[in-house]
Amino acid sequence: MTDSTLSYLTGFGNEFASEALPGALPQGRNSPQRAPYDLYPELLSGTAFTAPRAANRRTWMYRRQPSVVSGSYRPYEQPYWRTGAAGGVQAGPEPLRWNPFPIPEAPTDFVDGLRTIVANGDADAQAGIAAHVYLANRSMQRRAFVNADGEMLFVPQQGRLVITTELGVMEVRPGEIAVVPRGMVFKVALPDGPSRGYVCENYGAFFRLPELGPIGSNGLANPRDFRTPVAAWEREPGGYELVKKFGGALWIASLVQSPFNVVAWHGNLVPYKYDTANFMVIGTVSFDHPDPSIFTVLTSPSDTPGTANCDFVIFPPRWMVAEDTFRPPWYHRNVMSEFMGLVYGQYDAKPEGFKPGGASLHNCMVPHGPDTEAFEKASNAKLVPEKLDNTMAFMFESRYRFVPTEFAMTAGALDTRYAECWQGLRDQFKGA
Ligand SMILES: [Fe+2]
Repeated sequence: MTDSTLSYLTGFGNEFASEALPGALPQGRNSPQRAPYDLYPELLSGTAFTAPRAANRRTWMYRRQPSVVSGSYRPYEQPYWRTGAAGGVQAGPEPLRWNPFPIPEAPTDFVDGLRTIVANGDADAQAGIAAHVYLANRSMQRRAFVNADGEMLFVPQQGRLVITTELGVMEVRPGEIAVVPRGMVFKVALPDGPSRGYVCENYGAFFRLPELGPIGSNGLANPRDFRTPVAAWEREPGGYELVKKFGGALWIASLVQSPFNVVAWHGNLVPYKYDTANFMVIGTVSFDHPDPSIFTVLTSPSDTPGTANCDFVIFPPRWMVAEDTFRPPWYHRNVMSEFMGLVYGQYDAKPEGFKPGGASLHNCMVPHGPDTEAFEKASNAKLVPEKLDNTMAFMFESRYRFVPTEFAMTAGALDTRYAECWQGLRDQFKGA
């Protein structure tokens, strides 16, 4: 199955409707006495019933068996998937960086290959996020996963993902991203073999498009470029195992049939994907570059206006044209905490040590900025229009301080010489 054979609905936050069999979707009501084809209606609520209309998300599914038909759950061992600040270890207030995380050779699927790098907040408090990598080489077969702790944002870095969800199937390649809502069952296949990427597990409010303010009604990620799969159900008979993340722990149960048994659905709580090539990048056409919030694709708000639980930010290919301007990021310390990854290419503030498949962490009030080489180059460059090409870095930025996991600090990927990249920034004051 390839992307060209899959169908999608377009738009963000729409009231979608999709049926894999003509007439499977009830008309005019959600829960008729008997639904078409004797399917079972089932509601999945992503927000409280009484959430304001603009923030309300729910979907009606019409399925061969309701999800409640399940065996009992028993604990499932996956010690590398950690939850919230309590799942980490204390580390000093230093910038941290990781080399690309190696993909194991032993058979490993998406669930077993997930490694938490940093996390903050508390899933039960519905605050914070975790930044994970997945390091996998095997498709999930008769095995599915569902996360009650948060929605999941996928950023593939090596290899495509085919994500089968209750609402349909989507293919996501490096350069694209995908989101599966909290509570929606999915499985991940790896058509390209060994695969690596990043995941933001968002315990807080669901991701949405940022406000545009004076930018106007177009720009950044445009709603029409988001794609949601159409209804599809799995025909093959036979049982399944379902792994469920619930309160920071993983559990497993046996199912008598595939959970991908939804024949029709309608609603606005949906999985979706987005190609970052469609991001309309806005930058300066005079001097100084805007704050990096100008690169926000999706935002998960917190209860404090303008202070995100998580912003998903990308640094895509773009033209640099600013005059009399130091063009890379300036040196800074922020109240917001920044976890970064690199999908491909080079990041302009760190042309060397920050590699695709690696990561960096600049926590609350931890100083950082361009390395010595980037500073020297940008301070002396002739400022002609320049295309930053073949580059795709991203950031999960959060109001909550990130705590790295034991895996992150001890598994060998930590770049213990990271701080050296700034040591060449000598005092060049000319006023003495
Ligand atoms: Fe930063």
